[in-house]
Amino acid sequence: MSDSPYQCQVLMSHMMLPTNANPFGHIHGGDIMKYIDDAAGVVAMKHARTTVVTASIDRLDFHKPVHIGNLLILKASLNATGRTSMEIGVRVEAEDLLTGIVTHIASAYLTFVALGADDRPTPVPFYNPETPEAIRRRKQAQERKACYYKSKNDND
Ligand SMILES: CC(C)(COP(=O)(O)OP(=O)(O)OC[C@H]1O[C@@H](n2cnc3c(N)ncnc32)[C@H](O)[C@@H]1OP(=O)(O)O)[C@@H](O)C(=O)NCCC(=O)NCCS
Repeated sequence: MSDSPYQCQVLMSHMMLPTNANPFGHIHGGDIMKYIDDAAGVVAMKHARTTVVTASIDRLDFHKPVHIGNLLILKASLNATGRTSMEIGVRVEAEDLLTGIVTHIASAYLTFVALGADDRPTPVPFYNPETPEAIRRRKQAQERKACYYKSKNDND
């Protein structure tokens, strides 16, 4: 067993091909969204060790375009757990493989819900972050969760 703090993270990368792009060589935002969902889903399954579904994707802004031939890099980390839900943060970067320049493309927060054999939400292991950075990310995730419940109550 490692003594280092528990962190549930994945690093995934994909070469951007012409099939990912529009006729002008820009990568489709929808393709990047799918890669974000995939990376976050892997983190959720690694933590919950059960089937998971995407419940929500928070606001997603694309700061810079991604081009054919770039390496898309996704860094996904567990931010917080609720009873049956998990918030995962994903940072997306694009590396120009000819220059090595890495650009921040987008960041997103996703909520996944763990499902039991009955396809209903099931409890996930509690995540207790230990590093100051991880504790900060959990606090921000809890604030987003509180906003979700507030807007849900306002709309009910
Ligand atoms: C996500 C889903 C399982 C939630 O089911 P539900 O009956 O609403 O369950 P609950 O109200 O008990 O919510 C379960 C948990 O999810 C959280 N949750 C549900 N919808 C959420 C949302 N839009 N944003 C953030 N959290 C959400 C709840 O806060 C709760 O968290 P907690 O247990 O950690 O406190 C259900 O809405 C679903 O199956 N949606 C479709 C998922 C899917 O198919 N995704 C793929 C893309 S379409």
